[in-house]
Amino acid sequence: MSPCPHPPTAPPHPPPRSGERRPAPRSQAAIAAPEATTEPVPGAAPESSTPSKVILITGASSGIGRATAQRLAREGHHVVLGARREDRLIEVAQEIEAAGGKADVCRLDVTDRVAVTAFVNAAAARHGRIDVIINNAGIMPLSRLDALQADDWDRMVDVNVRGLLHGIAAALPHFQRQGSGHFVTVASIGAHQVVPTGAVYCATKYAAWALTEGLRLELDPSIRVTTVSPGVVESELADSITDEAAREAMRAYRADSIPPSSIADAISYAIGQPPGVDVNEIVVRPARQR
Ligand SMILES: NC(=O)c1ccc[n+]([C@@H]2O[C@H](COP(=O)([O-])OP(=O)(O)OC[C@H]3O[C@@H](n4cnc5c(N)ncnc54)[C@H](OP(=O)(O)O)[C@@H]3O)[C@@H](O)[C@H]2O)c1
Repeated sequence: MSPCPHPPTAPPHPPPRSGERRPAPRSQAAIAAPEATTEPVPGAAPESSTPSKVILITGASSGIGRATAQRLAREGHHVVLGARREDRLIEVAQEIEAAGGKADVCRLDVTDRVAVTAFVNAAAARHGRIDVIINNAGIMPLSRLDALQADDWDRMVDVNVRGLLHGIAAALPHFQRQGSGHFVTVASIGAHQVVPTGAVYCATKYAAWALTEGLRLELDPSIRVTTVSPGVVESELADSITDEAAREAMRAYRADSIPPSSIADAISYAIGQPPGVDVNEIVVRPARQR
């Protein structure tokens, strides 16, 4: 177990083999960073006039989370990156710092409620506040229901639903105390339509949508709530499919995709609105996707 906090320049483990995902040790949540700042980053070519925010992103080691971290850091925000593959987080943080941005890294398994709470609390303690949490971590091991891949069902519920709830529970007390905050949920087009092999995945994304809408309805308007629902996006998501038939079907389905930066742009738009403007939902998909 690596000591925490630790600098992003010192990967504690060799990189995993391609496609391999290393589980995190339980209950570890650490923030590593150079000195925190809430000022815009000099030379970082901010792309918006939004004041610098402290933004937590789960699942920041690849795909949409990674692109979002890079985009938001470029705008001058201080990003706090969580995922299980710490070596990949460090790579992302190093790229951000090389471009003049600020990033903290933290090895995190969102299925571990204690670890998620520690991740959020450590970020709040380090920076004095947290402004946004992007609950993005997700997996998609698709299969037909009659394939009875019950372990995959459990994993999807654990990461896509329980992981989201853990992020909400950890950040909400801070947002309420601050009188401000912003929840961003990365759901899916699967929160709006069900496809064969996608019943459980879509169920978890319908749940993510419902939980986020429930937050919006229940919370004080000082706390903003956004669901971003991507269509097919280039990423490592389909690597989590263990069922051979579903994997094959996905090759054709996912042939037409958009880059993760398209989703990062949507998230950036929602975050960049003035406090009185709450962007509740954005669906972004390839123009050809039906
Ligand atoms: N790509 C698409 O077509 C698409 C479409 C609709 C919605 N989405 C949603 O977008 C989100 C991001 O997915 P992506 O497309 O960017 O795929 P991705 O490249 O596979 O990224 C998924 C991220 O989630 C992290 N993750 C998975 N399990 C985790 C756990 N237990 N704890 C912490 N982090 C975990 C992964 O990091 P580690 O493995 O390092 O932990 C990775 O950073 C997901 O919620 C996905 O459902 C994607």
